[in-house]
Amino acid sequence: MRARLLTLFTAIATVLAIVLPTSPPAASAAAAPRHRVTYDHYSVSIDGQRVLLRSAEFHYYRLPSPDLWRDVLEKYKAAGFNTVSLYFDWAYHSPKAGVYDFTGVRDVNRLLTVAQQAGLYVIARPGPYINAETTGGGFPAWLKNVPGRARSSSPGYTAAYRDWLGHINKIIAPHQITRGGSVILYNVENEYAMNTDAAYMEDIQKKARADGIDVPTMTNDCCDAASWTSTWASGQGAVQIPGVDDYPQGFDCANADTSWGPWGAGLTERLRDDTPVFAAEYQGGSIDPDNAGMDKCRELTGPKFMKFFYKSNLIASGATAFNYYMGFGGTNWGWLAQPNDVYTSYDYGSAITENRLLSDKYDEFKRQNSFLASVAPLTKTDPVTAPASSDKAIETVARANPDTHTQFVLVRHSDHAATTDDSATLDWTTPDGHYSVPVRVKGRDAKVLIAGYDLGGQRLVWSNSELMTHVAAGGRDVAVLYGTDGTQGSTVLRYSSQPTVQVLAGSVKSSYSGGDLRLDYTHSGLARVLISGGGRRPLLLLLGTDAEAAKFWQAGPALVRGTSLVRSATVAGATAYLRADTAKVEDVEVFADAGRLVVNGSPVRTRVTASGSLLGTLPGPEAVHLPALTGWRSKTEAPEAQPGFDDSGWVSASKTTTESPLKPKTPTVLYADDYGYHYGDVWYRGRFTGTGGETKVSLNAFTGKRGSYLVWLNGRYLGSAMGGVQADSDSPVNPDPGRGDFTIPAGLVKAGQPAVLSVLVENQGHNDDWIADDNRFKQPRGLYGASVEGSTAPISWKIQGVAGGENLVDRTRGPLNNGGLYGERAGWHLPAYDNRSWTAGNASQVAPGVTWQRTSFRLDLPKGQDVPIVLRFGGPVGKGYRVQIFLNGWNLGQYGGDIGPQTDFTLPAGLLRQHGRNTLALAVVARTDATPAPVSLVALDNERGGVPVSDVPSPSPR
Ligand code: GAL
Repeated sequence: MRARLLTLFTAIATVLAIVLPTSPPAASAAAAPRHRVTYDHYSVSIDGQRVLLRSAEFHYYRLPSPDLWRDVLEKYKAAGFNTVSLYFDWAYHSPKAGVYDFTGVRDVNRLLTVAQQAGLYVIARPGPYINAETTGGGFPAWLKNVPGRARSSSPGYTAAYRDWLGHINKIIAPHQITRGGSVILYNVENEYAMNTDAAYMEDIQKKARADGIDVPTMTNDCCDAASWTSTWASGQGAVQIPGVDDYPQGFDCANADTSWGPWGAGLTERLRDDTPVFAAEYQGGSIDPDNAGMDKCRELTGPKFMKFFYKSNLIASGATAFNYYMGFGGTNWGWLAQPNDVYTSYDYGSAITENRLLSDKYDEFKRQNSFLASVAPLTKTDPVTAPASSDKAIETVARANPDTHTQFVLVRHSDHAATTDDSATLDWTTPDGHYSVPVRVKGRDAKVLIAGYDLGGQRLVWSNSELMTHVAAGGRDVAVLYGTDGTQGSTVLRYSSQPTVQVLAGSVKSSYSGGDLRLDYTHSGLARVLISGGGRRPLLLLLGTDAEAAKFWQAGPALVRGTSLVRSATVAGATAYLRADTAKVEDVEVFADAGRLVVNGSPVRTRVTASGSLLGTLPGPEAVHLPALTGWRSKTEAPEAQPGFDDSGWVSASKTTTESPLKPKTPTVLYADDYGYHYGDVWYRGRFTGTGGETKVSLNAFTGKRGSYLVWLNGRYLGSAMGGVQADSDSPVNPDPGRGDFTIPAGLVKAGQPAVLSVLVENQGHNDDWIADDNRFKQPRGLYGASVEGSTAPISWKIQGVAGGENLVDRTRGPLNNGGLYGERAGWHLPAYDNRSWTAGNASQVAPGVTWQRTSFRLDLPKGQDVPIVLRFGGPVGKGYRVQIFLNGWNLGQYGGDIGPQTDFTLPAGLLRQHGRNTLALAVVARTDATPAPVSLVALDNERGGVPVSDVPSPSPR
């Protein structure tokens, strides 16, 4: 019986496959159309059409798997964003002055193409300075050796940034909308507020114009357009569209449950009368300065915050351009982190997690963006008198479109921090008459209510539900409205005669009088009401709770309910084609001008529902089993600590001048950057002749926050200390930063004998330059002071860092992948390295120094599934050691108590070979005897769908 059914099903499937095309007809390859970007008091326009910019920030350099860029950008689009904002990170592309790389994971030309294919406009932000908690704020570390203050018009810096802009502008320019691409705005500098130099601001724009940038220039002014700084809205260096950054919720993730707008109301200021109000960066998540963990950051900036602050800003400021920072944060892989504010994860508590999962914040973006996208009158509004509230606990703020008169009323608690449940009646003069409208606000919530709106072929008089979206499909309008679970809802629509009301699901009462059809209901589950007649085309109202609304996807011409994600939808020849992800077997419901459904290329059997939609069932993913990590081998290193180690090939640290404003305490300059060793670990070996009376070694080292250094004398481990941090460069400069004192055991140094001091200094990354002050940006990394008590003998130093220094050996993985650990220089992290001679087992105990552990594992994940996998360290975060994680040679971050609270490390598909062998190498740098935490592979999700991901090349250059 089963076999017969199967045969029958196969036969039907074959017929279906023959009858139904499984992909929409391809668009004809015409020359890319060119468009014009203009702007006025209200909004940006494209070809004269007003557009409300809904953007989120994306850092391609924090996702080193180009195929996954498409995944994330499609997720942006599916959340209702129409724009992506892209910083371009100079440091990521330039290992050495004049040398740039835009290939592989750095292929930003490809990125711009993918953004356009995903249907997103682009805000291009090439700096030169970007901040972004990225090492050096985006400045390559070699710039520390360039004379002249960075972020000024000093000649040295000017030559350097013009070179960078010359390269990146050349890639951006052809992608401008004016040339058939999708770049619509060009951001100049970044929060350039302190120690400013207007000639520099002006020159960046001149350079951009000379390089063919013709879209409007903009900038993101810091600190709510603070009065103490230029906003670049006028005067020398002014941009065309000045924007403002707001982070009203601050960064106190540890106090997520109590923080509420400590940094202000978050209302974007108007900076010019002839440009739109532009929220150039608006808080979409948070860094985690107190190591609270990213989930706490997601909570700090969760749906409540988004509802209250975003909606308040929309109506109170009238902004029509929003860029939320971040939509997806990604990973500070390699040495990408700026060490003061971030650790490996740059998840940022974003709507899309570091592992590309969609959170409840994503749902909120989708609800709000869908509204902004579907209601065109929002692109042109003025403040108007708001309806009076009958209860002073609830306040209103209103705007209206001067042409359509559509009104938008913000309803929230008068006490912006109130958590009470209050109700009121609004005395509302709408464009269609005077009404008493009941409203209720439960806790920290805000709603934007709409009145006098031509919703497709309908007239929405008012509603106290919020409108999520509406589409025209199947000869009718379909609209989704929603409200807080359990609250009362009313919607009033206008007709020329009494329409027919059919309640298809849920409980909804209707009454008709004087041209008004009034529907009353409680927001609970999903109610469905079909209204026909009354002189208009039919309307299907879908009235839901927040959670029900979040199940809808407005994709192209279709409205879809269900699935984890609808990436795109098209309708051609009465067939709706969806690309969608599913985490389980589940229903999909499609409202579209279509009688057939194809999902991910496969026809889906459907039936037509009473709602006029197509309802079908989609398959879920196959189960996935990940291998246990076994077969470990380990090896200890740090031969550099031994007195007899051959360092004849090392560089002599004999320079006596430096561009760092901080002059060394040692006779010669020991700063790693001065010798071309900019990232990761650096070894020093200092030779001196013993007196026999030595008692103590005193050192100063700069590592950046979270960094430490380890010290050996004549092969004996003396101990470790934490290195100096950014604050040490604040005025007055700390004369004794990152100090470590190490007792010398009696007899270790002998009179007249050579002694060797070996120091392994970690460089956690470079300070940013937010204040445009070289004291901060050019703070050195490496040794700053070194003396031996009981000896005045000169110490002659040698230094060793990453293989090749600025002359990259590993061009594929780039300048931020490696430092100068012995194992890194010897290729122990690379897939081709042969570790068969290493000790079997995974070194459950390690001594101070460096121990490597390697294993490999094979994956064969089901095709057509997206399975985000992390490397999980078990137990509480380990102390006294740190672990650098290399997957197939790629440095995917650092674990350890000195670093941060992180126990899960993203292994992005592409770097992680999903169908093949993977090599995992862990470099354990221990400051004390330690027991490294066990690690395992964990799948955080399993979706049928996703995007095709090919392996990122992982060569083993030596
Ligand atoms: C802004 C800056 C961004 C980022 C953000 C905090 O001030 O422009 O680059 O640093 O703060 O995450």
